[in-house]
Amino acid sequence: MNPVEINKVKKEALDAAGAASSLDELETVRIKYLGRKGLLPAMMKGLKDLDPAERGDAGRGANDFKNAVTTVLEKRRVALGSDLYEARVTVDYSLPGQWHRTGSVHPISHVICEAVRIFGRLGFVVAEGPDIESSFNNFEALNTPQHHPSLDAQDTFWFSNGSLLRTQTSPVQIRVMRNHRPPVRVITPGRCYRRDTTDATHSANFHQIEGLYVNCNVSLADLKGVLGHFAREMMGPDVGIRFRPHFFPFTEPSVECDFSCHVCSGRGCRVCKQSGWIEIAGAGMVDPRVFEKVGYDPELQTGYAFGMGVERIAMIKYGISDIRQFYENDVRFLDQFR
Ligand code: PHE
Repeated sequence: MNPVEINKVKKEALDAAGAASSLDELETVRIKYLGRKGLLPAMMKGLKDLDPAERGDAGRGANDFKNAVTTVLEKRRVALGSDLYEARVTVDYSLPGQWHRTGSVHPISHVICEAVRIFGRLGFVVAEGPDIESSFNNFEALNTPQHHPSLDAQDTFWFSNGSLLRTQTSPVQIRVMRNHRPPVRVITPGRCYRRDTTDATHSANFHQIEGLYVNCNVSLADLKGVLGHFAREMMGPDVGIRFRPHFFPFTEPSVECDFSCHVCSGRGCRVCKQSGWIEIAGAGMVDPRVFEKVGYDPELQTGYAFGMGVERIAMIKYGISDIRQFYENDVRFLDQFR
């Protein structure tokens, strides 16, 4: 093709590209002119047969043809594409909007945050420990040797290397005392695990908040005062609170602390097993043996510790009768705690 013919083909190609009314048509134009078997390769091949005087002009013409057609094809492709896009997203503004659900804070988290706030005002700081613990921190350092019968109630999930899923948040006491000199005043919210059969009030996975205060001259009266204050702040001024003697290997003396049942206002129901009370926390004065294990002087230091069940508190605070509802991710349940 000589330069004049090339120019003619170029005009034809540009017109065809401009006139294409769909992406398919445009592709046909591209194949016809620029495709492997199209006019451009033919043009290039033909150059060598031309008169040398014409060859330079024809070469430049072919290049120009290629660039011009490519540019126009691209422009047209964008235009056709965006037409198509607009056609697709045409919005009917009269339709009702689409609502996206927003999540809400889980009741367990609510209770933990509230407890952190209440104890925070009393000077407690938050300390955390891992869910996977050593048997030493979870049992031995807490004055619970491997043969101790109380281990039966705290059977858990063991790893082959001897570590375990912690049965209580008490091992965080050990971690804190091993790393800090007294006085210490911490609360340690977290997940715990036990080999429990699930029912309305038990779950193999649950949450505790541990509290630990160590200083000189700490007494059981301080513990009672703090837990009573916590109960009223958390549940309201009408909550009843009682302490029962108990045993824990790492506290002496030990108590269990119950709140009056909010589901039945103390009359007796399934949640409180007809007693009117719900066991909320284990507590007591830190056993001198524990102070020895962490290198504190048991003659100088005194302290109290408590560990309470977050689910239990949430159940009576919100009147929930089955612990399993916390873990089912049923939005109808969770939606109520916005
Ligand atoms: N760790 C005990 C339990 O899970 C509770 C507790 C904590 C008791 C601190 C005394 C002191 O049962």
